[in-house]
Amino acid sequence: MKRITIFTLGLILLFSCNTPKTSYNVFNPGQEWKDNNDVHINAHGGGILFFNQTYYWYGEHKVEGKIGNTAQVGVHVYSSKDLYNWKDEGIALPVDSIDSNSDISKGCILERPKVIYNEKTKKFVMWFHLEIKSQGYASARSGVAVADNPTGPFIFIESVRPNKGTWPVNVQEYHKLPVSNTVKSNYCGGKGCLPAHVDSLNILGRDFKNGQMARDMNLFVDDDGKAYHLYSSEENSTLHIAELSDDYLSHSGRYARFFSNRYMEAPTIMKTSKGKYYFIASDCTGWSPNAARSASADDIFGPWTELGNPCVGPDSSTTFHSQSTYILPVQGKNDAFIFMADRWTPENPIDGRYIWLPIHLVNDKIELKWMDKWDLSIFKE
Ligand code: DGJ
Repeated sequence: MKRITIFTLGLILLFSCNTPKTSYNVFNPGQEWKDNNDVHINAHGGGILFFNQTYYWYGEHKVEGKIGNTAQVGVHVYSSKDLYNWKDEGIALPVDSIDSNSDISKGCILERPKVIYNEKTKKFVMWFHLEIKSQGYASARSGVAVADNPTGPFIFIESVRPNKGTWPVNVQEYHKLPVSNTVKSNYCGGKGCLPAHVDSLNILGRDFKNGQMARDMNLFVDDDGKAYHLYSSEENSTLHIAELSDDYLSHSGRYARFFSNRYMEAPTIMKTSKGKYYFIASDCTGWSPNAARSASADDIFGPWTELGNPCVGPDSSTTFHSQSTYILPVQGKNDAFIFMADRWTPENPIDGRYIWLPIHLVNDKIELKWMDKWDLSIFKE
């Protein structure tokens, strides 16, 4: 009996040692993407940090079922040397399962986490879109957390409504007029809930005192080390680009508003070696995919010129059934950028797939084309 048990155990051990782990040398957009444990990567609405010759992918850890659209676990982090194969590094920022009064208590909505490294403080700084538990999408806040190591643990600092009591550099005179009492304080998010002329509502003025709304977001560190927070503001109608403080832990108070009344979500940004900034975002249709938008500028604070839908070919009107989340500069190559997007599955969010595609720079515009499979050799050195 004992012999059989040892024999069986031996077989199991031998089998599990010899089971080949999935390894990749190509990207397969929209397919299952397994980590070093052969588990589909769980880092949705994600972004990438490159630090010490390693890429770190941070994203929303989703669980099965509709409850997975709320934060039950926290922010997941993976590491990779080659961008194809990812090692599970665990939960970088857990939600708070003990203190139900915490801003990040289990069941809140914590979306689109991004991490940047501050050269001066030697800290890793994470910002994310936060909706306080049980308030739907009404709170529209930004959370910030900090860590000494890229894989965490990140310590939650606070959540804010950015730029409280500060006007943007391109404020209009009408914003400073007394806010009309027809401006309700509780508009629902999304374009369905607002009348056509959002500017007449002066949402910026309404939120001046308590801070601006901040939902879908991204971070960008420029060549001079200045960091920027981009977020859908003013009931999602208008994008704000806001400079962060030198330690990246707060807003400096210098910010500007763009694409007024264009309802852009999922903002992403890149900068070419020629110093041109490109921007890709989505329309505002909940979890359903829509046609992407793009724009370019010579200065991050504008003016920004819209360039239309960057996607071409079949399924370009739905961004290939996905929504932007980050633009990843490939290290060691010149002007090589990867468009990262999510193919959401809100009925079972853990199954959401990732769409990574090369960005083509064509005549001062950017172009995205569907590819079933591709690898980094598509980029010139
Ligand atoms: C679209 C946003 O881009 C997502 O991050 C998420 O907030 C969904 N809306 C919720 O409907």
